[in-house]
Amino acid sequence: MNIALIGSGGREHALCQKILKSKEVGKVFCIPGNAGTSKIATNINIDFLNFKLLLSTIKKNKISLVIVGPEEPLVRGIVDFLEKNKIKVFGPNKYASQLEGSKAFMKNLCKENKIPTANFKVCKKKSDVLEFLRNSQIPVVVKADGLAAGKGVTICQSKNEVLKISNEIFLGKFKSSRKLVLEEFLDGEEASYFLIVDKKNFSFFGSAQDHKKVGEKETGPNTGGMGAYSPAPIIKKKIEKKIIKKIIIPTLTSLKKRGHPFTGFLYAGLMIKNNEPYLIEYNIRMGDPECQVIIPRLKNDLIKLINLALKNKLDKTKIKWKKEKCMTIVLCSKGYPGKYSKEKIIKNLEKIKLNKHSMIFHAGTKILNKKLVSNGGRVLNIASSGGNFFTIRKNIIKIIKKINWNNGFFRKDIGWRVI
Ligand code: AMP
Ligand code: GLY
Repeated sequence: MNIALIGSGGREHALCQKILKSKEVGKVFCIPGNAGTSKIATNINIDFLNFKLLLSTIKKNKISLVIVGPEEPLVRGIVDFLEKNKIKVFGPNKYASQLEGSKAFMKNLCKENKIPTANFKVCKKKSDVLEFLRNSQIPVVVKADGLAAGKGVTICQSKNEVLKISNEIFLGKFKSSRKLVLEEFLDGEEASYFLIVDKKNFSFFGSAQDHKKVGEKETGPNTGGMGAYSPAPIIKKKIEKKIIKKIIIPTLTSLKKRGHPFTGFLYAGLMIKNNEPYLIEYNIRMGDPECQVIIPRLKNDLIKLINLALKNKLDKTKIKWKKEKCMTIVLCSKGYPGKYSKEKIIKNLEKIKLNKHSMIFHAGTKILNKKLVSNGGRVLNIASSGGNFFTIRKNIIKIIKKINWNNGFFRKDIGWRVI
């Protein structure tokens, strides 16, 4: 079976490596992929948001299964489009994708089903904001309703800041929506909980914690993620039961009742406060870089699993995990998440010998004039697995020092909570 994998990040490189280990796989095409995927699969450099072009590429290459990495094509309805054209695709449809594509949709679904989440108000105009502020305490969290490439959330320390940020969103700062959600601030420890879901079943698909802030000690602006580790020790059995009972089941049941069951990977971003889980956000895909620490721990054949999910038979298998822990540190371009240069040569990568516990996943990389160069803010993910996070991190940092890329930086304190 030929497979297309949509996306170009570290997540997709990790998925691509895993897919290639499957017994059910013929050729793998990465659309568009990166320098890492080009070494192990075939990259096709087209705009995957051009669904018609994507369809003809799929047909030309006799692709019979499409796996979608990032959220944007899902939110824009890639699944509905491909299914209408009789192409097998793994991911949620456009309706269910609103769990990530619209904060207002997600929060209203929570309210309707009594799912624990921060108190909130969906706002369309200034008077809505003033009304929420009258009854709330600072800090207040302002969230753009639609997709905002990780830039849509601001934790505001004054009411004036709330008004300023809200006004920018009302005026169209984000193309995806002019609505916003105001939320009370939740204090606690964040963790991510993943599931693979079909129309009838769901299975646990790993837990992780990531570091969103660019600077050590959780300082500076938010990023797509500077590093992650799996499993997340804070998700103990008792808390997991609550997550499933109070958050996951009501969400999936509600979508089913509305006639739009969720299928695909579901990522619940949680805040754990006094041993109680609160839903902060849903993502309708694997996380990046969380995927890079979850996939190396998965024992099952991923394509077998996805094919079972497409037949709504996830209950026919047991998902098994390796005991080892896994961590990844992201090597970024200097300047990220602000302005940074691209096409900087990365010289030493081929020379590095990795043991079987370590992996380098490419993210923002490409080949230019036969040389490996950077092509984004998050450039490489160095991952390693083992018995304890302290040794794992030491190994990763050793590898990064060998890469010795002058144009990059990374956080040395990934996993501080567990080390
Ligand atoms: P989101 O895009 O909703 O995940 O928000 C991005 C980040 O903002 C989260 O990972 C949290 O660190 C933070 N955040 C979002 N909502 C809240 C909240 N209600 N209370 C505290 N922190 C929040
Ligand atoms: N690492 C956060 C995300 O994938 O949304």
